[in-house]
Amino acid sequence: MMVSYVLMAEEYGKKPPESEKPGRAQGRSYSCKRPLAAESPVAPKGALTVVRGRLRPKARSRPRALLQLLVGIYYCNLLTAGQASKMGFLFASLPRMKTTDPLLPSQRHLFDIPDDVAYLNCAYQSPLMNSVVAAGEGAVRQKRYPWEITPPDFFTLPNRGRELFARIIGANADDIAIIPSVSYGMAIAALNIDVAAGQEILVLDEQFPSNVYPWREKAGESGARLVTVPRPASASGENSLEPWTDVVLAAIGPQTAIVALPHCHWTDGSLIDLVAVGKKVRREGAALVLDVTQSAGVLPIDVKQVQPDFLVAVTYKWLMGPYSLGFAYIAPQWRDGQGVEQTWGGRKGAEDFTRLVDYQDEWAPGVPRMDMGARSQMQLMPMALAAMEQILAWGVERIAATLAEKTRDIALRTTEIGLESVPEEQRAGHFISLKFPGGVPAPLLDRLFEQKIFVSARGDNMRVTPYLYNSAYDIDRLMAALTAEPGI
Ligand SMILES: Cc1ncc(COP(=O)(O)O)c(C=O)c1O
Repeated sequence: MMVSYVLMAEEYGKKPPESEKPGRAQGRSYSCKRPLAAESPVAPKGALTVVRGRLRPKARSRPRALLQLLVGIYYCNLLTAGQASKMGFLFASLPRMKTTDPLLPSQRHLFDIPDDVAYLNCAYQSPLMNSVVAAGEGAVRQKRYPWEITPPDFFTLPNRGRELFARIIGANADDIAIIPSVSYGMAIAALNIDVAAGQEILVLDEQFPSNVYPWREKAGESGARLVTVPRPASASGENSLEPWTDVVLAAIGPQTAIVALPHCHWTDGSLIDLVAVGKKVRREGAALVLDVTQSAGVLPIDVKQVQPDFLVAVTYKWLMGPYSLGFAYIAPQWRDGQGVEQTWGGRKGAEDFTRLVDYQDEWAPGVPRMDMGARSQMQLMPMALAAMEQILAWGVERIAATLAEKTRDIALRTTEIGLESVPEEQRAGHFISLKFPGGVPAPLLDRLFEQKIFVSARGDNMRVTPYLYNSAYDIDRLMAALTAEPGI
């Protein structure tokens, strides 16, 4: 994807200016009565003309401009953005230059994050954008006037949610069910996929429990075997590009019934090549079930290529939405399957509220039969819509590239002080986990907390997961705290 707007070098290594402070109500609020229009502020006006360096001064001599251009190209190719900040003086008078780096400028102004908070923990909970809060407030206020909520609203809101989530994963709106949680989505998958005694269900070592418990249960009741694919030793090191993928591929065979995976591991961002896994799964006649909660919205995925049977994600992490809402992609071959609940909304003719007492055994065609009860989610869904519209306006590929630059900077700087992490080509760009054999020291976590630097401890990892609101100042603060830690 060729785009030409990128991060300003000035953004790095500097406290955010006052003008970056949060604005109010950046977006429009959604409610049942308000039309859903396509909008979304992506970057402040003029951002499209920003390149790595300053804007072109009006007049300059040609030889000097040429020299600066060559120096600029050289350094743009060699340096991470973080290093570029340290070389700020070199960029001070660079000419404007087109680049193919699809980086986004800071979006902190769309959030309400105080300057002294370095929130590097999006994998835990994303903060809500001001526009998303406004959408939620509008939706809550709407409930004061229920006479304004009409039967069609029960359908238009979730249908818009299906549409936007489908665009994020390369699916169609008709493929998407509304769910409250990953465990609910996995329950739908487990209910529909048959497993015979002696077959295998594959999961990754230390996979998130919502994508493990249903399979333990399924294996227990069917006599199948739950196989945990171990983290290969080389996943933390050199050689193979996709070592964990290789181990997963090697574990799939004629005995495999279900392969239940994430796109990237929730503790350290280790990547799985889902296209390769999908091919092998289909060749062996197994089913592929994905939890993309830690990647949807921030790591591109195309279900047409991966071809999962079921794919689920909740909105409160990288989809930048509220808690207790999610989406499930259901592949065409499962559309006649069973949902978890006996809902009225999933039945044929549910649109006619006057005849709901004419109990209907027949389900509406397609995926809505698998929707959760109360799928309209009139307070939460408007927030999810506002968030997904913004994500689509930024573009998932651009978000991914921008965050990869941030974690690359962290990786370089933490390697310099002796902290290991999964190599860049083996991890998702929005994730970096610093290894502390024996666990992250509690005093370090306490100190980070006191300094309002927010990360997560997961197993032996300190998980650092930045987003578009993080400036280099945030990363500098993390680095200062790590460097000051005795023993590092
Ligand atoms: C990978 C992953 N999946 C799922 C969840 C949440 O699961 P559930 O919606 O079942 O609470 C999390 C929460 O941290 C997660 O990291």
